[in-house]
Amino acid sequence: MSFKFDQVPNRRNPQRSNKWNYYPKDVLPMWVADMDFPAPKPILATLHKAVDHGVLGYELPSQALKETVAARMDKLYRWKVKPEAVVAVTGIVSGFTVAARAFASPERGVLIQTPVYNEFHEVKNNLGIPQLDAPLIQKVTGNILSYEIDWAVFETQARKAGMFLLCNPHNPLGIIFSRKDLLKMAEICIANDVLIVSDEIHSELLLDDNKHTPLAKLSTEIANHTITLIAPSKTFNVPGLFCGFAIVPNQELRERYEKEVHHMRLHVSSMGLFAAQAAFSGRCDGWLEELREYLSANRDFLVNYLAEYLPEVRVTFPSATYLAWLDFSKLIESGRITGTPFQYFLENAKVAFSDGKIFGAGYENFVRLNFGCPRATLEKGLERVRKSLA
Ligand SMILES: Cc1ncc(COP(=O)(O)O)c(C=O)c1O
Repeated sequence: MSFKFDQVPNRRNPQRSNKWNYYPKDVLPMWVADMDFPAPKPILATLHKAVDHGVLGYELPSQALKETVAARMDKLYRWKVKPEAVVAVTGIVSGFTVAARAFASPERGVLIQTPVYNEFHEVKNNLGIPQLDAPLIQKVTGNILSYEIDWAVFETQARKAGMFLLCNPHNPLGIIFSRKDLLKMAEICIANDVLIVSDEIHSELLLDDNKHTPLAKLSTEIANHTITLIAPSKTFNVPGLFCGFAIVPNQELRERYEKEVHHMRLHVSSMGLFAAQAAFSGRCDGWLEELREYLSANRDFLVNYLAEYLPEVRVTFPSATYLAWLDFSKLIESGRITGTPFQYFLENAKVAFSDGKIFGAGYENFVRLNFGCPRATLEKGLERVRKSLA
């Protein structure tokens, strides 16, 4: 490995990291979705150059940047996107919030597949739009958890929805939905006149040899019903720069979407735009290839560790992302954990996970673990968990 993913950076400086400063100093943070790795050099060099210039004026998303985004879709997926279909947004949460403002309503809410990224649940709170849950069905094989779509529930909820907010690859489950599932979800949405917003922020964080297919690539009809959200932020670990892209091939949808972006005055920072250009240029792809290998090995380490030392804990085997979903129900039932696992480990192991309950109703026995960190950090966290249960 030429990149030093094993190096443990100091992120405790009060100005530098929410992940590392939110909890007291003795707590090891394994929660919010950013990684403990420096961004690849071409991005850092681009940012240094801008700072060295000294004048940090207003920037707009350039034609060159839109072409770079479109070229990346072509290179990765052979998905032909017109540069004018690309709309810059101040991150993906803004991106789907804008879509919900424009296309959902109190009469026709937002369909989501729980357990799912906590910010998906905030649409309801922020905009007063009903949330329509289509919980995924849990399967257990040994200590491995997997999930599948409950089609009857999905279809029932789609009938009441104005917008379907898809998370693919899925946070926190690490699922890459199959082509067959994507087609069926799209078909149901189109039949019920439901706009699809496909959050594909994790689409380049693929583990092993897994492949991602953008939903909108499946057909022109689907593309015309879909807003795809992508960003360099998770892949290249620059989430603090807040820059993402909505790809909206349908002109009418795009005009409505852009109007809403304009109403909200969502201007992307110059640094975010510069970083995105470098990130999607292809110059960071060597770094990304090694990162994916490192993350796949971290996932294996985690799953093997749990199987060996904590076989009562069930865990997903993610195909993408650096997030794992852990079920502590057995330890709760046997009385070894009291209260929620999130609180238990925060207090007894000094490890901060993401609390399962923020991903949906009924997930209090779960936590999400972020393994986007040096292996030594991951091992330290797992050791603390094990000792707290000994
Ligand atoms: C599925 C998903 N969407 C969006 C985001 C956040 O996007 P942004 O920071 O660009 O708003 C995250 C962050 O964890 C995520 O997992």
